[in-house]
Amino acid sequence: MKISVVGTGYVGLVSGTCFSQTGIDVVCVDVDERKINMLNNGQIPIYEPGLEDIFKYNVEKGRLSFTTNLKDSLADSEAVFIAVGTPPDEDGSADLKYVLGVAREIGRHMNHYMVIVTKSTVPVGTSMKVKAAILDELAKRGENIPFDVASNPEFLKEGSAVDDFLKPDRIVVGIESPEAEKTMRKLYKAFLLNGHPILFMDISSSEMTKYAANSMLATKISFMNDIANLCELVGADVSQVRKGIGSDARIGNKFIYPGTGYGGSCFPKDVQALVRTADDYGHSLDILKAVEAVNYRQKEVLIKKIKSHFGVNLEGLKFGMWGLAFKPKTDDMREAPSLVIIEKLLQEGASIVAFDPVAQEEAHRILGDSIVYAKDEYDACIDVDALIIVTEWPEFRMPNFRVIEKLLKSKTIFDGRNIYEPEEMQEIKFNYYSIGRKSVVISK
Ligand code: UDX
Repeated sequence: MKISVVGTGYVGLVSGTCFSQTGIDVVCVDVDERKINMLNNGQIPIYEPGLEDIFKYNVEKGRLSFTTNLKDSLADSEAVFIAVGTPPDEDGSADLKYVLGVAREIGRHMNHYMVIVTKSTVPVGTSMKVKAAILDELAKRGENIPFDVASNPEFLKEGSAVDDFLKPDRIVVGIESPEAEKTMRKLYKAFLLNGHPILFMDISSSEMTKYAANSMLATKISFMNDIANLCELVGADVSQVRKGIGSDARIGNKFIYPGTGYGGSCFPKDVQALVRTADDYGHSLDILKAVEAVNYRQKEVLIKKIKSHFGVNLEGLKFGMWGLAFKPKTDDMREAPSLVIIEKLLQEGASIVAFDPVAQEEAHRILGDSIVYAKDEYDACIDVDALIIVTEWPEFRMPNFRVIEKLLKSKTIFDGRNIYEPEEMQEIKFNYYSIGRKSVVISK
């Protein structure tokens, strides 16, 4: 079996590589020549645990290849996956120009039956637009080649994308014909050995499923963040509350960790896009509007705590920062809370020395030299007024506090991820501020 995957971003590259791991021939296509050259030279443009090994293995086996030539890639392909970007345009809706551009190109060049699968996260109705674009190009050519469109949203998480793809909780596929179902079932057969289901449904429901899933998860996070804020005011401990509610199977214990707000390439964009779609249909999704507002506020919650400790004037203060990426195990900085915190601190005249195990290069690309980049976590503590923890990398969980206390100017930690216990900080006499739990204030 052979397929083409158009777009070698996160989703396209991971999907293409993982499909090839099952023995399918995969041609990955991208218009970015630099990226294709890199991939052809064995370099992977993203950091994703486990990807490099299977990438190399399948390239060597000759099952995984990269090209800028979409037309050639279509030869003998049974399916083409569209996995190009859908950046938000000015009003928050997903911009479909890349998706529909690819659809048109497929229409210009296809010469046999194929299933054209939309994998990018796209608003309800997009697959029908893909279909219309292909039909339009075929009509221009005077051709009547049969094809099907399908929707197959991707639920992989950055940092565990390969695992998520190889062992999915479920696969959702929107289809219109038994032929398309047959092709998609064949493609995914190897991933379903763990007993998890492939759910076939109509195309609109499939497109909606992706937005509803991400919006529900974002809602859980904003809900917990706001409950955490209230816990502080009433003297409750959100970690206890989290365990208390999470052991109710109807609520579940995942995705209820408070923090500095959700970031990344999906939640902020998808929540915004769904709000926009609903508005277009004259329906106000008030819950999601609140989810967004709470998330926006949450990214500044550490600044409030910093000011409550140091006073409103932060001019001349220097902060160490652990973690820049929007979450651990990725170098992705998109919508990262660290960016908001850094911007605010710099505006207030403070300076920052930051350390992230993998995102420093990416951070430098975005922030330039507006902050200092430390060589390790201890280096980021030297002579700083306080340490701020923004991303919960595992290597930050058990640091040597004896070393840290000698490096810091004042023994003060602002922990945006609740990775330490207030009691242990009390014992070692650190000022310690976290999210939704009581603060430990030894001295100001
Ligand atoms: C998410 C979805 O999980 C995935 O299914 C979808 O395909 C793409 O979007 P991803 O953006 O990689 O994946 O990150 P995820 O691990 O879901 O975390 C998203 C954000 O939520 C992060 O900023 C994370 O720090 C935050 N988060 C997550 C919390 O603040 N608390 C939690 O309990 C869980």
